Amino acid sequence: MGGEARIIGRKIVRYDQVQSTNDLLREWAERGEPEGLVVTAEEQLAGRGRMGRKWIVPRGTSLQLSILLRPPLAPLYAQRITQMAALAVARTLEHELGLQPILKWPNDVLLAEQNGSVKAAGTGRKCAGILTETSVRGDRLEYAILGIGLNGNYTMHMYPELAPLATTLQDAVGHAIDRAALENALLAALDSYYARLRSGDDLLQEYRSRLNMLGQVVRVATPGGVLEGIAQDVAADGALILNDGTTLGKLYAGDVTVLKQTRFDSRDVTL
Ligand code: BTN
Repeated sequence: MGGEARIIGRKIVRYDQVQSTNDLLREWAERGEPEGLVVTAEEQLAGRGRMGRKWIVPRGTSLQLSILLRPPLAPLYAQRITQMAALAVARTLEHELGLQPILKWPNDVLLAEQNGSVKAAGTGRKCAGILTETSVRGDRLEYAILGIGLNGNYTMHMYPELAPLATTLQDAVGHAIDRAALENALLAALDSYYARLRSGDDLLQEYRSRLNMLGQVVRVATPGGVLEGIAQDVAADGALILNDGTTLGKLYAGDVTVLKQTRFDSRDVTL
């Protein structure tokens, strides 16, 4: 095939039980490990999600991995790492399992419902999450830890409180998936997207095109309160641009709920 040497997955270290693969990989990073190392775990006792949430899945069922990256990016653009990972996850689920993933800002991969009506409203249930954590030294991104969790071979019926919002790949395809094959494909997709990110390719347009919410009326629960408006765009720094009818605001963290579809034209509102 030619091309540059592989970065992501050039070395894979497998653990049985860890607290969190992100925490463990940070230790490798601090010892000076080159980028591309992947650590995986069968079980995480203290798996973490965004905004301080827990990420705990049944042992031996899923993909839980962290990847050490040292990209030539300014810290301001670290969100691009999450975006490129979301694109790689989406492409892998499409190609390997024939699913139709949609992305939810900032870091979720959803699967549309089969009946189409839910898909039309721009929502779906979460099957994967991404947690990118960075170390910044001066004005440089020293390293990033890209953590990815995909809900695999169990059924969300085990967790009735999560079932309205989350799903598993097994539930989505109707049978157990081949975890090793999926991991292999995911690492290859990540490697190819990461090569593009490193070479300065703009992945934002592709990310936008896979988002479920642009142009929709949304409610965003941010750390500072709940906001509503039109999800107008995603900025170059990864912020969600929310149009409340009079102003445009940039949001850097939050949980978005799509409220309804709209044809509202917001082009003449200024930032
Ligand atoms: C989220 O949806 O909030 C992000 C979830 C990220 C979970 C993964 S699993 C592997 C890695 N290790 C962790 O502790 N978290 C990430």
